[in-house]
Amino acid sequence: MIITIDGPASAGKGTLAKKLAEKYLMAYFDTGMVYRAVGLELVLSEKDIYNTADAKNIAENLTFQKMMSLSSHPDFRSDIGGRAASVVAAIPEVRNALLKMQQDFALNPVFADGSQASGVIYDGRDTGTVVCPHADLKLFVTASSEVRAERRYKEFQEKGIVKTYEEVLSQIKERDERDEKRSAAPLKPAEDAIILDTSNYTAQQVFEKVCKIIDSL
Ligand code: C5P
Repeated sequence: MIITIDGPASAGKGTLAKKLAEKYLMAYFDTGMVYRAVGLELVLSEKDIYNTADAKNIAENLTFQKMMSLSSHPDFRSDIGGRAASVVAAIPEVRNALLKMQQDFALNPVFADGSQASGVIYDGRDTGTVVCPHADLKLFVTASSEVRAERRYKEFQEKGIVKTYEEVLSQIKERDERDEKRSAAPLKPAEDAIILDTSNYTAQQVFEKVCKIIDSL
């Protein structure tokens, strides 16, 4: 079984995907990692993140192992990594170069220890529209920008990162705009996706709702 979960930043996709993967013994592919890896490598090599040729070259040479190794860098999940990822993700050549690696994962889905999984849960922006248009279930998880900023602001507070709510909200809006307005694979629900607005629900309520959908397939 293949499930895709797309939607804007901080809508609760990752939390939902991980819980579902655990319950249904499925492998999980957080596709934002491929863009974060390319963006971070550009930043670390002090190259311009808007340079198409450099970004394409890094994307073409990215391997799963390299992505996993970059993922332990402190800036992989920071604002620096997030911003660089969203800039390189708007470059069509970069998206093309990273497509096969994402699609190949579904051919032989395995867990981190190498054991076989019963399917894949993809999490991203275009996994139901481009990466896996033939998925068995497509979800589009969203929430208002204010609710998403509030969630991210709380995460920062818990981690001791000093930021105002207004700063967080403006970064979320900037990333939404870049994801929605880019010409290559803009963020939008697949025509056959189920849309879940999580603004007024807890992560547990969303999880239970989706479990009911999966169990009825
Ligand atoms: O989900 P995450 O915040 O890690 O993604 C980082 C960036 O990668 C996003 O802001 C988005 O621009 C890009 N992305 C994408 N397509 C995906 C996953 C992520 O364009 N499937």
